[in-house]
Amino acid sequence: MVVKETLRLHPPIGLLPCEAMSHFKIDDYDINPKTRILINAWAIGRDPNSWKNPKEFYPERFEDNVINFMGHNFELIPFGPGRRMCPGITMGSTTVMVTWANLLYRFDWEVPNGMKREDISLEENVGVSISRKSPLYLVPIIYDFGKCESSNVG
Ligand code: HEM
Repeated sequence: MVVKETLRLHPPIGLLPCEAMSHFKIDDYDINPKTRILINAWAIGRDPNSWKNPKEFYPERFEDNVINFMGHNFELIPFGPGRRMCPGITMGSTTVMVTWANLLYRFDWEVPNGMKREDISLEENVGVSISRKSPLYLVPIIYDFGKCESSNVG
């Protein structure tokens, strides 16, 4: 749910280039064959018509529904939809999940001295691909499994 919510708000590729194969209409606009179209996956992920409180980071929104990023739900397309969607979806999403799971399992995370959580900037560079505007600085604290009495891991 956290990975879905992160990719909803911060898809690494914001604009998906496509080409119309046949004539169709969007509202009153005629789209002719061969027209270049940019699908704005970033804006779709924040569309209030699809998402309640779209700007809020709220992974629990995925608790009671089957929305996923496999290309079936057009409101969540960080890997694109259709025949040209990302062929690396399994590798990409698994890498993100395994990396995060390890980082969160092994470490507690704090913001550097004097900083508050609210000071962390979520500003992004705008473009076809999206990245953080400023680097993210966090302090990893090795998790002390000894503190967790019921746990046998360590
Ligand atoms: C979190 C990681 C990743 C994200 C968010 C991502 C996202 C995307 C998106 C949005 C597209 C364009 C889809 C479209 O136009 O509809 C794409 C295309 C593509 N991705 Fe990924 N990707 C990721 C990881 C990977 C990995 C790990 C690989 C390869 C190992 C990969 C290989 C490709 C290729 C080859 C295309 C072009 C497909 C085509 O044009 O037919 N991606 N990806």
